[in-house]
Amino acid sequence: MENFKFLAKRLAILFGGIIGLIVVIFIGIQLYQTNPDLFRYEEIADADWKPRDVENEMETTYIMPDVRYGYEILTETQKHIGPQAKKPEMRYAGNNLKCTSCHIESGNLPGGSSWAGVTDRYPKFGGRSNSTGDIKDRVNGCMERSMNGEMIDRDSREMRSIVAYMEWLGDKIPESQVQPIAGFAELELPNRAVDLNKGKKVYMKDCTLCHKDDGQGVRNSELEDGYQYPPLWGEDSYNEGAGMHRVITASKFIKANMPYLSATRDEPVLTDEEAYDVAGYINSFDRPSKPNKEDDFPDRKLKPVSTPYAPWADDFSAEQHKYGPFKPIIEHYIEKHDIKKSK
Ligand code: HEC
Ligand code: HEC
Repeated sequence: MENFKFLAKRLAILFGGIIGLIVVIFIGIQLYQTNPDLFRYEEIADADWKPRDVENEMETTYIMPDVRYGYEILTETQKHIGPQAKKPEMRYAGNNLKCTSCHIESGNLPGGSSWAGVTDRYPKFGGRSNSTGDIKDRVNGCMERSMNGEMIDRDSREMRSIVAYMEWLGDKIPESQVQPIAGFAELELPNRAVDLNKGKKVYMKDCTLCHKDDGQGVRNSELEDGYQYPPLWGEDSYNEGAGMHRVITASKFIKANMPYLSATRDEPVLTDEEAYDVAGYINSFDRPSKPNKEDDFPDRKLKPVSTPYAPWADDFSAEQHKYGPFKPIIEHYIEKHDIKKSK
């Protein structure tokens, strides 16, 4: 009798357990059918991630001092580390552009060379120096070229603050977003050279409102306050070594972002051909030269095809490297060196 009771108790627990398990599985299946998202925490978090609302957060929330200082440097570069800096030793940048003249909307716009997640993309290999560089090296790449200036000391408060702001921008960014957010627009390269006459027409129609006929843009009242609309060529512009001086890179930037406030990466205003021709047009004017640029890309095979300055690892003309057609050069590198170039 005792034995039987013992066995019955065991069996009851066993059956109870099995029934409980079936109920849990059943409820699970029901829940999954009605709301599968409950079981996908990771992906939902990914899809929900949005770029920060920078201006709003700067005004309404507490921001760590280094993040805030980084933001100020990047959005008013000329005042903090440029020609308008009070202390001469702080004048690293050589022109009155801001970093955010090209990294649109405080460097936070997908398609506007966003910095959200950029710190996750470095260190990485760069052909320009033929070595692996970290985020500070990359910042200094734009300092020496886009800003026509000098490198910022790696350990300075300024450099640390710039990186802190970039990290803040990409806070909690899911890995799946890091690449899609980067860069500019996709563009089908026309299989012909830039047509400067057509480029000029596009410029006169879609760009002069802000950048003016002479390409010199519009200053804020004092140069200390920088430009309302930045210059696109001339002494106060990016130098010859800058990424924006390459027609392929400039066309992709322009397609995704210009005319300002009308074009976006998903809804561009210009066609691929218009962006291509106008990119050639703005880069046909004089701009500051870059010292020692012949030392760029020690492995010359890695030089982007639209780098407009010598030397190259091929026999295409300087004219063709500047204005295209680029497809034959791209094909040459695939056939001869098994290297697929996109810029
Ligand atoms: C004249 C336009 C211009 C200005 C001004 C400029 N940049 Fe850039 N920057 C670019 C372009 C174009 C690229 C992408 C180059 C390429 O595709 O090779 C880039 C790339 C970068 C990258 C790497 C982005 C990535 O996704 O890997 C960083 C970081 C960066 N810039 C920081 C800065 C900082 C900091 C400043 C100011 C000190 C600055 N840039 C000013 C045009 C500019
Ligand atoms: C409505 C005004 C406006 C129009 C129109 C416009 N831009 Fe811009 N552009 C800007 C502003 C403003 C910036 C800098 C972004 C910032 O300060 O936030 C800029 C930045 C640029 C830059 C990078 C910064 C530099 O100085 O090199 C290039 C290149 C550029 N524009 C080219 C063009 C081209 C080409 C067109 C015509 C297809 C065009 N823009 C039309 C306002 C405009």
